[in-house]
Formats: sequence, C-alpha cells, structure tokens
Amino acid sequence: MSKLWGGRFTKETNKLVEELTASISFDQKLAHEDIEGSIAHVQMLGECNIISKEDADKIKQGLQKVKEKLENGELTYSVANEDIHMNIEKFLIDEIGPVGGKLHTGRSRNDQVATDMHLYLKNHTVEIISLVEAVQAAIIEQAEKNVDTIIPGYTHLQRAQPISFAHHLLAYFWMLERDKGRLLDSLERVNWLPLGAGALAGTTFPIDRERVAELLGFAHVYPNSMDAVSDRDFILEFLSTASILMMHISRLSEELVIWSSQEFQFVELDDSFCTGSSIMPQKKNPDVPELLRAKTGRVYGNLMGLLTVLKGLPLAYNKDMQEDKEGMFDTVETLEGSLQLLAPMIETMVVNVEKMRSAVNHDYSNATDIADYLVTKGLPFRDAHEVIGKTVLYAIEKKKFLLELSLEEYKQFHELFEDDIYEVLTPEHVVGARNSYGGTAPKQVKQQIILAKEALNNV
Ligand code: ARG
Repeated sequence: MSKLWGGRFTKETNKLVEELTASISFDQKLAHEDIEGSIAHVQMLGECNIISKEDADKIKQGLQKVKEKLENGELTYSVANEDIHMNIEKFLIDEIGPVGGKLHTGRSRNDQVATDMHLYLKNHTVEIISLVEAVQAAIIEQAEKNVDTIIPGYTHLQRAQPISFAHHLLAYFWMLERDKGRLLDSLERVNWLPLGAGALAGTTFPIDRERVAELLGFAHVYPNSMDAVSDRDFILEFLSTASILMMHISRLSEELVIWSSQEFQFVELDDSFCTGSSIMPQKKNPDVPELLRAKTGRVYGNLMGLLTVLKGLPLAYNKDMQEDKEGMFDTVETLEGSLQLLAPMIETMVVNVEKMRSAVNHDYSNATDIADYLVTKGLPFRDAHEVIGKTVLYAIEKKKFLLELSLEEYKQFHELFEDDIYEVLTPEHVVGARNSYGGTAPKQVKQQIILAKEALNNV
C-alpha cells in the first residue's frame, strides 16, 4: 500500500518496522478528537483564504462523513497507515478525492497529535471530576446517617480513640476534594492549543491560531512552537494527579476490605459488589475494593513510564513520544471505572452499628480521657499519663475494661478520682468531648457535613 509520506522512499517498509511504528491499534481512541481538530483547522484555512472556501467545505463535509462511517463501523483501520491521523486522512481522500489532501496544509502530525491529546484529556478530566463528585456525594450520604455511630479510631492499626464513623468517612471526602482541586487546576494547563506549531518551527502559511483555539474551545495558544510539540507535561500532570487520587481510592478500599472481614464485620458490602469462591461455599470476597487497591499500581506505573520516556529527549518531537498514549488511556479508563464502582459501593454498604459499638466497649481507647480528667483536676498531663498507664496495666491484668474498675481501684492510683469518672468514660462522652474545630464530636461533624455540602455544590 502506498504511504502518505512515500515520495522520498524507494523500498517498501519492513513488516516488523511497520508493526513497531504503527500506533493505530491504540490511538484510534483519538478518532473523535482528531476529526474535531481537523474540522476546526480546515475551517480556519478557508477563512484565511489559504485554501478556497469550497474546498474547505468539501473537506469538512468529507470529515463528517468519515466520522459517521466510523461510528457505523463501516471503515477499517490499517496498520500500513500507521496512526489515527493518517488513517483518517486516507479515509477522507477515499471519500472526497485528491482535494482531501489539502487538509494537511499548514500543519504537521506533531502539532496535530498534541492537539488531539489536549482535547482528549480536557474532556476526560471534566468527566473524572464529575465522577469524583459522585463518590463525594455517596460519602456525605453515609456520613449523614452515621454521625452518632461510634467506631474505634486507629493509629498504627491499634485502637487509639473512639470516633464518629461519619468523621472517618468524611476524611476521604476532603482528600477527594483536594484531588478535585488538582484536576481543576490541571485543566488550566490542558487549555492551551498546540495546533499551528507545525512540525516544530511554525508554518509559512498565514494561519490564525486564535481562531482555531476559539473553534475548539481552548483558552490560550502555545506561544512557542517548539514547546507546543515537544512537551507532554500536561499528561504528566494528569498522571500525577491521577496517582494521588488512586492512592486515596486505594486506602479507602483497603479499609473496606478490613472492615468487611470476619474479624471486624464493621460493614457489609452489597452482594452485587462481591464474588464467591469456587471451592469455599461460605465465602463472600470483596473483589471490587481489592481490585481498586491493586489498580493503583498500574496508574503509578503509567506515571513512571512517561516520566522515563521523556527524561532524555532533545527538542523537538521524537518518535518516543508516541509512547505517551497507552498509559494515558489506561489511566483515564482505570480511574473512570474505579470511581464508577466506588460511589454505589459506598452508597449500598450496610453499616454494622452494633459490631462497631461492641468493639468500642471492649477496648482501652478511653484511656486518654481519664488522663484528661486528672488534668482538669489539676494534675500535669505527663503525671496523669503515668498514672493512667499504670491503671491500664492493672486493668489488663485483672481482665477488666476501664468502665469496670471500682472507684476504690481507681483511688489506688490517684486520690483525685471521684464518681464522675464513669460518666467521662462512656464512648458518647469520649467522642462528644472532642469538640474542637475539625474534631469528631457530633456537633463538629454536623458542621463539617454542612461545609462538605457547600464545597460539593460550589464547583
Ligand atoms: N503517531 C504519532 C504520535 O503519536 C504522531 C506524530 C508522528 N509524527 C512524526 N513525525 N512521525 O506521536
């Protein structure tokens, strides 16, 4: 098959080389963006009289036709045409004849591919932001139902202090809120148009780049043609943001796996998000959060992959840069898929309030509060810590919890203990007492939910 760039060549391309260099198997995902970019480009060529208005119209109609035929599955991509850009140009020429060859006036595949990638990422970033918001909404919904649900809070995965379950969930709301902020911020840099940079140096034709930017909805035009075709930092930024977002998804998933284990039984995931075992009939496995946790690995990998591809490249375009695509597509698809599952999984999970409560009743996580109790009675915190350390040790030896020690037993450790200690030690009191701004007291958590709702509706 004759190549679009075949003029300079006297030999056929080696088949394996063709396979190595072709990107059509994956960059066909850019078909829509490629056609959109071409339509804007050719419109501008017509308006600037670089080609005639009639030719521009013919090409535009031809591109629409190609788009329709692609959507109907009437066209087949060919590896010999290497990539999405040349495949579409070839389809266009087949559709409208040699005039289709005028489309590529004043541009190069280098600025074309960069433009396609900007368009693709812009659309998907917006989509991902709305999927993040759906997860945030699911978190708020569960949080509202669980302001007064008490769960052990952990540090080092050891019981630390009891907290409101809503407070725990809302921690993820704010992490996602920052992820959303990073995604929104990255849009600022995706919003620049590379088209018009040519292969690297600009073009001899009197093009109007601002007009193309306007037609495609870009806020700015890259001011340096070399930069426009050479960098992929806008993809790296997305991949970094995606990595942080996946890390958050992974941590939440890990907690769901732990909480739904037999040992914890704090939550039960809906059957529709779990799978069974082929051998052990009793099993209900949390495959979804496990896989979300695992898929974080490929997202990090995609970031490291592209950073490594780019690190030694001289300006301007190098074929190496064709390797920017699969990792980006994979990250977009992984993120979109993960977020789509996470929202309904959180929404439908059943919270086992009794199990959480029973866990809190059977630990020493109210110990800090006895220390604080002695402090309010005048003892320095360090001394109180020492006293309570001994009290806890004594209780453990006696196989009793702190609420089960008698006042005489308390008084052995310090004479400041009085009857009011028992009130201080109830989980409700312990949680309610942490009423500092951002703390776990129901009053603060309710306030936090108001802030979360405001943040969600403000975007
Ligand atoms: N398929 C190529 C890529 O994705 C398009 C740009 C090709 N440019 C070139 N000079 N070979 O990078």
